[in-house]
Amino acid sequence: MSFYDEIMVPRLFDPWAELLLSQVKLRSGQAVLDVACGPGTVTRQAAHRVGESGRVTGCDLSPAMLDLARSKTSMAVSARIEYLQCPADSLGVPDDAFDLVTCQQGLQFFPDRPAALAEMRRALHHDGQLALSLWCAIQDCPPFAALANALGRVLGSETAIAYEAGPWGFSDAESLAQLVEESGFKNVTVRRFELPLVFEGGPAQLLLTLHAASVATTLAQLPEADLLALALAVEEAAGPITLDGVVRSHAASHIVIAQIE
Ligand SMILES: C[S@@+](CC[C@H](N)C(=O)[O-])C[C@H]1O[C@@H](n2cnc3c(N)ncnc32)[C@H](O)[C@@H]1O
Repeated sequence: MSFYDEIMVPRLFDPWAELLLSQVKLRSGQAVLDVACGPGTVTRQAAHRVGESGRVTGCDLSPAMLDLARSKTSMAVSARIEYLQCPADSLGVPDDAFDLVTCQQGLQFFPDRPAALAEMRRALHHDGQLALSLWCAIQDCPPFAALANALGRVLGSETAIAYEAGPWGFSDAESLAQLVEESGFKNVTVRRFELPLVFEGGPAQLLLTLHAASVATTLAQLPEADLLALALAVEEAAGPITLDGVVRSHAASHIVIAQIE
């Protein structure tokens, strides 16, 4: 969990949370629900934007992520945040209670995506907004494509495919728009955005992000020689995006904005 929060959140998820929230109209005093809130990345920024008179709830399936979220101090001038443990397809929140529902890099992981979207719709006011983000194809996120390449070379293609199928497993914009429309949302827009992504600690720091991925359990059981081979393969695969020991690249994500009516 610490690899996610210490390496991924400041370099990747925090800047994307800011971009996600800049795409919606959020006023002071409003109520926000952040689904799959993880360590409270969007949740805390939303609480700051709606201010002390606002109300923010973060939901996640993982108790460890929620513990991390609860351990963080609020940003200055911030709404109170309530964190709830629940699956996205059975949100423990009332009907018609929120002005905005956000879900940053969560929907691709849900086993029942239509049920999760139905729950988000249920939680929104009639004039509420939905804001989702889901990574584009892994080739549009070159540091992670380099990791997939290295995993494939050292641990085999099945491991690489499973790695890619997680975060990058729902990257088609048309299917995404169709799913959100079929879930009853209106004015659905899906736009592609790109943000810089820098690992100043170079390929070795990029490699550490694998410990925050589903492949982490495999890595924990690998002999030293395989771990060394993986580190060398990452260095080689990330060569084209490494300059003076720093990985300098970008990541691309779809952002979906939609309304209830
Ligand atoms: C990539 S993280 C994103 C977390 C957070 N939104 C952020 O921006 O840092 C994905 C999150 O989805 C959560 N998650 C996965 N499946 C879930 C489910 N079925 N219901 C609720 N949360 C889920 C995980 O526990 C994890 O916190």
